[in-house]
Amino acid sequence: MQTEGEWTQGEIALMAAAVSRAPSVHNTQPWVLEARGRTAALYERFDIRLPRHDPAGRDRLISCGAALTNLRLAVRRLGWSARWGQFGNPLRPDEVARVTATDRGTPTPWDMALFHAISARRSHRGRFAGPASAQDVAALKHSSTTPGLSAHVVAATEVGAIASRLRYAASVLQGDRAYLRELAAWTAELPLPDGIPLANLPAGALPWTGLVNAATHIPDDDTLAARLGEESLLVLITVGDGRSDHLHAGMALQEIWLAATTRGLAASVLTQPLHLHEVRAGLIEAMELPGYPQAILRVGMPADVVPPTPRRPLGEVIRSKGHPS
Ligand SMILES: Cc1cc2nc3c(=O)[nH]c(=O)nc-3n(C[C@H](O)[C@H](O)[C@H](O)COP(=O)(O)O)c2cc1C
Repeated sequence: MQTEGEWTQGEIALMAAAVSRAPSVHNTQPWVLEARGRTAALYERFDIRLPRHDPAGRDRLISCGAALTNLRLAVRRLGWSARWGQFGNPLRPDEVARVTATDRGTPTPWDMALFHAISARRSHRGRFAGPASAQDVAALKHSSTTPGLSAHVVAATEVGAIASRLRYAASVLQGDRAYLRELAAWTAELPLPDGIPLANLPAGALPWTGLVNAATHIPDDDTLAARLGEESLLVLITVGDGRSDHLHAGMALQEIWLAATTRGLAASVLTQPLHLHEVRAGLIEAMELPGYPQAILRVGMPADVVPPTPRRPLGEVIRSKGHPS
């Protein structure tokens, strides 16, 4: 065991940078990292709320799950084997997970490939140059090691069912003024209270634009189905729908997204439609899903180079010891 000592400032910065590059709902980055001894604890920022989009905080915890995958990879990249545990402190419901270095261990080539993909991954909210190959999709389906999670590859016969529900969700959300105001505030269309424009939302049509705002063109079902048919779609499913399931969905989402990045594929995620109960229930029924859909991952061949989106300064991500909770 070589766990004596503490993380160095450099190690903490590398872990925080990895956490920070994770995808998050509306790029809210709802996490804080605390490093003590050889443990790195990830906390959920309950103060970051999206009452219209995500009233129960499901997407916030999925985002923290994605950050946890990055954190675990960063610890391995630093040359440590690590154990991790989730929701271990009943007095701190915001404590999502702890990753503790146990022994020195050389990262595997796969660990390193996934770690390098952390900074290369982007949300590609555009039309792809073509679908992923069947071989790539099969590999992605099995590229998550997270327990309790399965990835359903959408079959050609299921595309119509998804298209009609995405179109329905888009028209409901376009009529929800409070929802649109909240989205605009987080996507730099309106000034944010702290002045940081977090996400860039390209104007456009479904499904490429991802999030639906007032300017999004909503196509008819057939047009949308034809567009979706040119992409590879994976629906991430959990058996339950509690906090642990949401955390695992985020961990798996990021594992699959990073694996796609290592294969030179582009991807983006849709959760927005799944926040309408009737859409979520309708997808479960139409595709006979064995659980709760948590996210839809679009994957394909990249057509454009997408620049990185901004992140909060690392000083806001790292909480030093003794900081009041
Ligand atoms: C839980 C979760 C939900 C998301 N939902 C959507 C969505 O519905 N539509 C969308 O276009 N992007 C969605 N995103 C992507 C984020 O907007 C994106 O990760 C963030 O803006 C940062 O950009 P990046 O992924 O390029 O780093 C979601 C991401 C997460 C983690």
